[in-house]
Amino acid sequence: MSTTSVSAQALAINGGSPVRATFLPYGRQSVEEGDIAAVVDVLRSDWLTTGPKVGEFEEAFAARVGAAHAVSFSSGTAALHGAAFAAGLKPGDEAITTPLTFAATANCVLYQGATPVFADVCADTLNLDPEQVTRKISSKTRAILPVDYSGHPADLTGILEIARQHGLVVIEDACHALGAEFGGRRVGSIADMTVFSFHPVKHITTGEGGMVTTNDPRLAETLRRFRNHGISSDARQRQSAGQWHYEMVLLGFNYRLPDVVCALGIEQLKRLDANLARRREIAAQYTAAFREVPGVVAPSVRPDANPAWHLYPIRLDLEKLTTDRAQVFRALRAENIGVNVHYIPVHLHPYYRQRLGFEGGEFPLAEDAYARLISLPMFHSMTGQDVQDVIDAVSKVVSSYAR
Ligand SMILES: Cc1ncc(COP(=O)(O)O)c(C=O)c1O
Repeated sequence: MSTTSVSAQALAINGGSPVRATFLPYGRQSVEEGDIAAVVDVLRSDWLTTGPKVGEFEEAFAARVGAAHAVSFSSGTAALHGAAFAAGLKPGDEAITTPLTFAATANCVLYQGATPVFADVCADTLNLDPEQVTRKISSKTRAILPVDYSGHPADLTGILEIARQHGLVVIEDACHALGAEFGGRRVGSIADMTVFSFHPVKHITTGEGGMVTTNDPRLAETLRRFRNHGISSDARQRQSAGQWHYEMVLLGFNYRLPDVVCALGIEQLKRLDANLARRREIAAQYTAAFREVPGVVAPSVRPDANPAWHLYPIRLDLEKLTTDRAQVFRALRAENIGVNVHYIPVHLHPYYRQRLGFEGGEFPLAEDAYARLISLPMFHSMTGQDVQDVIDAVSKVVSSYAR
């Protein structure tokens, strides 16, 4: 269907026919027969948790992102907690992060009793702005947590330079950015620690799951202990050494990722390149199509970045529209397009307002972006028709609200 013919139709929200008959979610996992067989094999084996598949998954993952070490966790959030612990964050410390992220990024600082300090984002990528970071550095700052929003790497050159000048640890939240590259280097090999998530909407999934990569063997050891109650060896190592003795050397948690789902992760990782290629193809199609739609601003990509496109967040040029983001969101949902919004800036959540005294207005670029953002469906198993439906629906809805 041509964009013009779709644009002329009545919106579904006003009683017209939706662009598609069935609901298209914004993200969706893909699980294949080989994944299921690998999981079943583990279910029939001796090790359901912390067996051979954990190390196998970690080694394959480290190799894929070009890091010396990869330590698996039970979720991306647990992985962030591990990284905040390994960075040595403690009460009285501060860590600087972006407000335009999932709450878990800032929460991991609070888990350690430290204080998250927000700095505003760059207008183009919506990633943490190094210049704003510099302004927030104090004698208490210990770490910087950039987020690769939507899968576009943060300005790691700028952030690492600041960190080196001030002796800070960089924990990159790359939960959106598995497979992304920055300046020709792979995300996962650049920051002191890089954190990934395997939630079902991500590039690969283990149901719940996460990973921290690092090139520092001491950080890797601390991370391994932290995810296993702070114990210095695991049950399988003790069994093979014929020993019962173990030592708890720090206060850790049970954040282990079981063998059952590591088997799934190993299989999923084999398809990462194909998944990334499809996501990049979809992003290119969206970007080309939205050049023709006044009122829609496509995400921008810097020349030194090769994004992984976890999300495809458009921004509405509200000055060219007669309505607001909420109405466009509802109208797209009525067309059966499963749009979403990433993110409500963290400092605006009631918990952060109450605990840290935010009132709104502190981070104008992040807050302005939030008022305009809509994440369109983006997942590797989207069909050509799915992509066209999204383009048609956005064109139809946005043009009907054009000034
Ligand atoms: C930027 C970001 N950080 C952290 C997380 C937490 O990951 P998980 O859901 O695996 O705990 C997410 C999850 O969606 C995320 O998007």
